[in-house]
Amino acid sequence: MTDVSSPIRWEQDQDGVVTLVLDDPAQSANTMNAAFTDALEATVERLSATPELTGVIITSAKKTFFAGGDLKLLSAAGPADAERVFADSMRIKRALRRLETLGKPVVAAINGTALGGGLEIALACHHRIALDAPGSKIGLPEVTLGLLPGGGGVVRTVRMLGITDALLKVLLQGQQYRPAQALEHGLVHELAATAEEMDAKARAFVAAHPTSLQPWDVKGHRIPGGTPSTPALAANLPAFPANLRKQLNGAPYPAPRNILAAAVESSQVDVDTAFAVEARYFTELACGPTSKNMIKAFFFDMQAVNSGASRPSSVPTRKAAKVAVLGAGMMGAGIAYSCAKAGLDILLKDVTAEAAERGKAYSAGLLDKQVARGRITAEERAAFLARITPTADAADLAGCDTVIEAVFENPELKHKVFQEVQHVVAPDALLCSNTSTLPIGLLAEGVERPADFIGLHFFSPVDKMPLVEIIRGPGTGDEALARAFDLVRQIRKTPIVVNDSRGFFTSRVIGQFLNEGVAMIGEGLDPSSVEQAAAQAGYPAKVLALLDELTLTLPRKIRNEARRAVEEAGGSWTGHPGEAVLDRMLDEFDRPGRSGGAGFYEYVDGRRTRLWPGLREHFVREGAEIPFEDMKERMLFSEALDSIRCLDEDVLTSVADANIGSILGIGFPAWTGGVLQYVNGYPGGPAGFTARARQLATAYGERFTPPASLVALAESGGRY
Ligand code: NAI
Repeated sequence: MTDVSSPIRWEQDQDGVVTLVLDDPAQSANTMNAAFTDALEATVERLSATPELTGVIITSAKKTFFAGGDLKLLSAAGPADAERVFADSMRIKRALRRLETLGKPVVAAINGTALGGGLEIALACHHRIALDAPGSKIGLPEVTLGLLPGGGGVVRTVRMLGITDALLKVLLQGQQYRPAQALEHGLVHELAATAEEMDAKARAFVAAHPTSLQPWDVKGHRIPGGTPSTPALAANLPAFPANLRKQLNGAPYPAPRNILAAAVESSQVDVDTAFAVEARYFTELACGPTSKNMIKAFFFDMQAVNSGASRPSSVPTRKAAKVAVLGAGMMGAGIAYSCAKAGLDILLKDVTAEAAERGKAYSAGLLDKQVARGRITAEERAAFLARITPTADAADLAGCDTVIEAVFENPELKHKVFQEVQHVVAPDALLCSNTSTLPIGLLAEGVERPADFIGLHFFSPVDKMPLVEIIRGPGTGDEALARAFDLVRQIRKTPIVVNDSRGFFTSRVIGQFLNEGVAMIGEGLDPSSVEQAAAQAGYPAKVLALLDELTLTLPRKIRNEARRAVEEAGGSWTGHPGEAVLDRMLDEFDRPGRSGGAGFYEYVDGRRTRLWPGLREHFVREGAEIPFEDMKERMLFSEALDSIRCLDEDVLTSVADANIGSILGIGFPAWTGGVLQYVNGYPGGPAGFTARARQLATAYGERFTPPASLVALAESGGRY
């Protein structure tokens, strides 16, 4: 008898092979919720009461094998839920433990993606076969959500691969492997090309193994590489916490530390005790604040952003096919690569054929590396490159359905290139500019169809950066916005949508971070403390080092243009204390940044050596140093407060866009869950954040004064 509401379907054949089909009727994907755990316990009970049982095959009727933990449930768990979270983690582990000790062979037929809990189920099987399907991913990415695998994943990978490989190849980075890579790293035993082949292989394994034990249940089993008391490992292990500290640079990510501790401690005890060790470290993370922030950002906000919450829903989806990229410099070359990667045909135009060829050569260089690593074949490389046609002749752009402009940051030049091509490309072609600072409304004045004109702000290096900021100009139509959104999804990047304004959202807000760092130099604070504060706040780049990379002339140019625009409109420029420091660095000391050989740092042959000692000499502190915590929070608050102003001014229209854009685009620390989630998650929530902003305003300047909308939100007990 089969329970139709159960997430696990029982199918038994005449040979006593039971196939457990994971197929939650209540959800589009299988997740590890209470109903699943109940069903798993009942199923294991039934298996052990089935005398004719010869073996078990676990597979799924969904596209993904198993989606993993129930993140909604997990993100609701607070410190008061610790006991329940621990008990749930132990329950699932006990059920899986009973499965692997049934004495009968259990095979995982992994028909699609198996991440997190999905792989943990498979790890409790004696044999794992993965369907080599395109897009399938296998791994334990819990660390990227501030968690650790709490369904036995730490215990089993350590016993299977050894402490070192489990940590480096699976647990600490949360790598997501294609099936062939999972095979290479020992996470699965074999691959199958089709579902039929997978089933045949699973049955063959069952037939050949009347009884089956996990390697760690075989008498005399030793963990590969040994335990922490093994001399070689004892010599290497102390490097792990040290390396971790170095990598994290003081940033508050608790998951890697707990993973390391769980791996080491669980390797020294029997399997059942090991599960309790893992559950304890899991519970600490699951009930703490960081995992909640990261789950909100990387799961819920990411889903909202990518599913099109900011896309006009009335416009049907439309795919691009042939894209004209204008300008084959750093950005144009990267955009051409990313579009060609998604199968689009590209016309890459520059002023000379040589410049256009150079832009195409950038793709060839990236592809060469992939061929050398065995990621793609020489034929795939050739087919990829054949999609990019370099040209210096505008006439070649005939028939393009999309234009992406990436010429120099100069409004007159941008007007000129659009005028040159607007009648050559398809009459309804989407017209995009990759400007990083110029108002879209201003650029749209140069085209005859402003409704089809939109900003498409890529980040450098384009092939690595996952975000694209879509900027809707005052005259941009719904159709153009929807098409731009679809294009970004088509090239498998993440789109956020903002309204036109100087610096849009990302460039404007990162400007606050840079300004605040520089202002602290102006106050004579210790430059290495300023850099360390950025690192410990969790920023991927230190503030002065980042400015040197960007070149100090760039923020000054942007500021001067913004100032001119404000003054021309009759307003008065408020300015920022950081501005005077940039001026002195450029005008008095001639230190424009790395490309000029001197900036906040000193350089030898383009390599950063040390902070420029002149900073301490020329920017002298009168009075005591300020608390280190204040340095960190000045950077974080400056960006959060400006993001709130972006919401007030309608530059941002969605909280999810703000959170995702800040993490993926401008390096706002991921542990916060993004720039607005930082306000929610601050001790005391928005009210605590508001009180602290007021303190910072008193100590460091009015720019920290909380906006009225924030004060109102805090008073009403609301959240972003
Ligand atoms: P780049 O200087 O590397 O490349 C500009 C290219 O445009 C050059 O190859 C130049 O020959 C070409 N060009 C000039 N006039 C042209 C014309 N009439 N027709 C065709 N091509 C022409 O500049 P980059 O860094 O690639 O920047 C391009 C645009 O992207 C700028 O608007 C910039 O603000 C924006 N951007 C830059 C980012 C960065 O990190 N560099 C990030 C995001 C946007």
